[in-house]
Amino acid sequence: MQKKIPAVSVFQFLRHSAKILKNPLPFHKKNFDKHGDLFQLNLGLGKSVLFCRDPELALVALQKEQKNFRKSDIQTKDLVKYVGKGLLTNEGEDWKKQRKLLQPTFYKKNIVSLLGIMQDAIHLEMKQLPIQQKFDIFPFFSTLAFKVVAKSLFGDAITTDEIYRLQHITEEAQMMLVKELRQPYKKWWFSLSGELRDKIQLTDEARDLILSIIKKRKSKPSQSEDLLDLLLQSTYDDGSVMTEKQLLDEILILFIAGHETTSNALTFTAQLIAQDQKCQDILTKEAQDLVSSGKSDLVGIIQSSQHLSNTLNESMRLYPPVYFIDRVNNKKFTYKNMEFPENTTFLFSLYAMHRKEELWENPLQFIPERFSTEKNFSKQFFPFGAGPRKCIGNNFAMYEMILIFHQLLSKFQITPHFKEIEITPLISLKPKNAWVSLTKRKNG
Ligand code: HEM
Repeated sequence: MQKKIPAVSVFQFLRHSAKILKNPLPFHKKNFDKHGDLFQLNLGLGKSVLFCRDPELALVALQKEQKNFRKSDIQTKDLVKYVGKGLLTNEGEDWKKQRKLLQPTFYKKNIVSLLGIMQDAIHLEMKQLPIQQKFDIFPFFSTLAFKVVAKSLFGDAITTDEIYRLQHITEEAQMMLVKELRQPYKKWWFSLSGELRDKIQLTDEARDLILSIIKKRKSKPSQSEDLLDLLLQSTYDDGSVMTEKQLLDEILILFIAGHETTSNALTFTAQLIAQDQKCQDILTKEAQDLVSSGKSDLVGIIQSSQHLSNTLNESMRLYPPVYFIDRVNNKKFTYKNMEFPENTTFLFSLYAMHRKEELWENPLQFIPERFSTEKNFSKQFFPFGAGPRKCIGNNFAMYEMILIFHQLLSKFQITPHFKEIEITPLISLKPKNAWVSLTKRKNG
């Protein structure tokens, strides 16, 4: 017998819509607790969205039967207006061709060759940290993560002012997209008032800036290899290279995909460490032992920072920066006696899966050690997604975050100035009011 999918009516949603739009996570939790791993929110006019916290079904859509699923319009249409068609926003054969071309650039050996650039950018930015005073650490990490991507891409070919301008434009475009998604009924006004046009013009300015760097690089190769060099050398099966337009789109996508996600993860991790002195002591010892042993090769530091790596994973379990992944099925399919008609929109909640009681011991507690056990969590823990569209920058992000916390913790004690961790779930899971202070360690 076919199983019915539990449905939540649009009225239940509308009654609390203001609260839900501000933070939809309690609404999701209430319905998951009531209905189980799947529930359908009917939006009227035959439209509905299916919320899912079953990792097995998520892996069907992302991996096993990924050919029968596509991304929703949010990524493949709405975001395209601002950043064009790059890896994140592309679909079908075009995506496949680009992924094949770009994958080798992100091989571990290439990311390892960028560690020196990353480390220098981190070292320089750390000098800006306010000491012995309360500050929100999120904007600091946001600028740092942006600079690491910018420097890894362009090395010395980009100036600090250009980085700030690009960061401003990227953040403005993201904010406009959030506005469009949260207030779809105001889309006509955004067009009429010229607000949308202004933001799109801003991204044209970003394109011009990046294009001038590409042109200069083509006429005069750089001294040390960066991501731009690797991208310029990448060739398709027939030996041809990317067009300038495609290269521009891919670069804009790397900024969008690689900056906010990383700064969210860095901030939540800093907050969790600040709240847990025992964990902070273990991490500080790990970092300082590495410094006093004279280990200065960056690969060695990354490989030996095991507690730190577990802590980052545990932080992304509790606060996955990409807190849901969307997919739409291209054809009808059946799963555990439930039938899903074609074009059903699925929202796979990583946030709910990563906190599901049946899957995790003490799911709400911060226990980095759980990742040091022999257990394999690959079927229930995927902060970087899964299957062929898994994050291409996962190694980049992990290496970057380890280098940042290695430097931070070997020098400073982090003290929390917040009662509890606050979140703003927008396109990504963003932190809010992440107030901390830093005290220089005597031996740091
Ligand atoms: C903690 C940091 C990061 C997290 C949590 C994260 C998470 C994710 C997730 C979940 C996806 C899959 C989305 C889906 O299947 O719909 C994804 C895709 C992607 N990410 Fe990341 N990401 C991070 C950092 C980065 C960085 C640093 C870069 C680049 C420098 C990057 C570039 C990309 C790109 C290009 C895609 C699209 C891949 C494709 O569709 O083929 N990400 N990321």
